[in-house]
Amino acid sequence: MADRIAEEKIDEVRQAVDIVEIIGDYVQLKKQGRNYFGLCPFHGENSPSFSVSPDKQIFHCFGCGAGGNVFSFLMDIEGISFQEAAVKLAAKVNIDLDLNLSSVHTERKASKEIQAMLDAHELLRKFYHHLLVNTKEGQHALEYLLERGFTHESIDKFQIGYSLNSWDFVVKFLSKRDYPPEWMEKAGIIIKREKDGTYFDRFRDRIMFPILDRHGNTIAFSGRSLGAGEPKYLNSPETAIFHKSKTLYNFHQAKTSIKKLHQAVLFEGFADVIAADRAGVENGIATMGTALTDDHIAILRQNADTITICYDSDNAGIEAAYRAGNLLTEAGFQLKVAVMPDGLDPDEYIKLYGPEKFQKEVIGASHTWMGFKFLYFRRGKNLNNEGDRLSYIEEIIKEISKLSKAVERDHYLRQLASEFSLSLDALEQQQKQIYFAEKKNAASGHTPVTHKPIIIQKPAKELKPAFHKAERCLIAHMLRSRDVAYKVQELLQGNGFNMDEHQAIFTYLLGFYEDHLESGPSAFLSYIQDENLRRTVADIEMMSINDEVSNQELMDYIKQVLNYKKLLKIKEKEVEQKEAERQNDILKAVALGTEIMQLRKSL
Ligand code: GTP
Ligand code: MN
Repeated sequence: MADRIAEEKIDEVRQAVDIVEIIGDYVQLKKQGRNYFGLCPFHGENSPSFSVSPDKQIFHCFGCGAGGNVFSFLMDIEGISFQEAAVKLAAKVNIDLDLNLSSVHTERKASKEIQAMLDAHELLRKFYHHLLVNTKEGQHALEYLLERGFTHESIDKFQIGYSLNSWDFVVKFLSKRDYPPEWMEKAGIIIKREKDGTYFDRFRDRIMFPILDRHGNTIAFSGRSLGAGEPKYLNSPETAIFHKSKTLYNFHQAKTSIKKLHQAVLFEGFADVIAADRAGVENGIATMGTALTDDHIAILRQNADTITICYDSDNAGIEAAYRAGNLLTEAGFQLKVAVMPDGLDPDEYIKLYGPEKFQKEVIGASHTWMGFKFLYFRRGKNLNNEGDRLSYIEEIIKEISKLSKAVERDHYLRQLASEFSLSLDALEQQQKQIYFAEKKNAASGHTPVTHKPIIIQKPAKELKPAFHKAERCLIAHMLRSRDVAYKVQELLQGNGFNMDEHQAIFTYLLGFYEDHLESGPSAFLSYIQDENLRRTVADIEMMSINDEVSNQELMDYIKQVLNYKKLLKIKEKEVEQKEAERQNDILKAVALGTEIMQLRKSL
């Protein structure tokens, strides 16, 4: 899959597919004028603001700003790479992508081995499931699960199974079906005995949780012991198809709901994910019993902007939630933390109190990240003790200092003031002190403070200055015509657009025209790497403008773009002029006055 697909092939695929048809598989589209409309699959909505243009072969949502071409649509909705999207589309229109012919031999062999690993997992998943739900051998395991509150429905949905209490059942089962034992050992399903080279089953007498990748392939298992047997959970080892640090349990099924809500709920254990799903929380996922990694975060980042952490409420769970929360806020997520009472885990809570109470009083009543920290720093402290109390207050103020919004800082300072009967003024002063001290620290290279922006942008509603619209109109025309693009470049006389984003698109577009004979909105969208820019381009593409643009029209737009620069210059000069007057430098003030007048005239 690491092969690069030839550019001409990509173009061929792009020209052969129809975006309306592809998106139609996911969204119900209705034709209205030249475009198609439907409910946006990337955010929850009741009235259709999602549009697809067959002429331009692009899509755009006026609600959430999502937009792009047929490749980016598949990438976003399926959570797959560009290459994977290209392969999918090529298959639809029967185009052979000629993937890498040079290293065919080894690649073929490797991919055969991988395919065998995947097939064996698939086979075993079905077989384990069958053993659990239909056979006498699995009956005690089924009873154990039902006793714990699992339902038949969720046992099916999560394809839970049972592995027999046998040393070689799977070894025989697979070799009878011609799966080479060496490969099955590499897949982690069976284990080789050192002394005689024979093999035995890894999973024996365990409840089997299949682990699926994001495409729904079974890539590993986690087996839970039925009683007190150790270890409680036995996982497949790392293999060519299974990487713990990149795998999120249930992501495959939760994906649709996560995308729709822009939210995911992060649990510690599989049992919690399954119980929560039963309680109607379908966007739940869990790591493989390990800490959250950057790879996990990257997967989530593509699909959600809010994460609710719902870990066990024992000490270990709270510490883990604090660590995960810090990573997630740093990555730009909005964070919530759902806390359960009395050291319970979500699975136990749901069993005790039922699904409604879980939805309402745990998930629905989640704390903000700051609210959680109020609880977190309190642990292990006796707030009746003055020393503890003061150190608690200081820790909280430090956290408040990190908040970027003044309203939020004010809100939490008030909360602190009222809880401990302190003066708000004093707290504010202390907070400022801490803020500047930390800032100094950061400047001298101690703790770098990073703030990554949130990727999902809602279109800003405020009124944009005139040049903004002018720049967009220019870009819209430049996207349609190479000649217009070069003309605009000339008319700007070395000046750029005022909005950085527009300038970036402009630069990309000129580069694109240099490299490509073929043009068209969809091709250009593939050329842009940056997700935010792609959205903006799709947005601009959807503007309704005249097909032809007159010279006069172009000149008017350019004038607005340049005027804004002059206005900025005038403001600057006016400040300088005031300063000169203040210093009684009359000559300088007069000279500046003349410059300002000339600039004004040229507007
Ligand atoms: P139940 O006890 O069946 O309710 O499972 P749980 O999910 O509540 O287990 P726990 O909270 O103890 O652990 C959370 C997660 O950590 C599990 O879902 C596993 O992924 C992982 N885990 C727990 N125990 C083990 C273990 O012994 N070995 C390994 N490899 N992982 C474990
Ligand atoms: Mn549990």
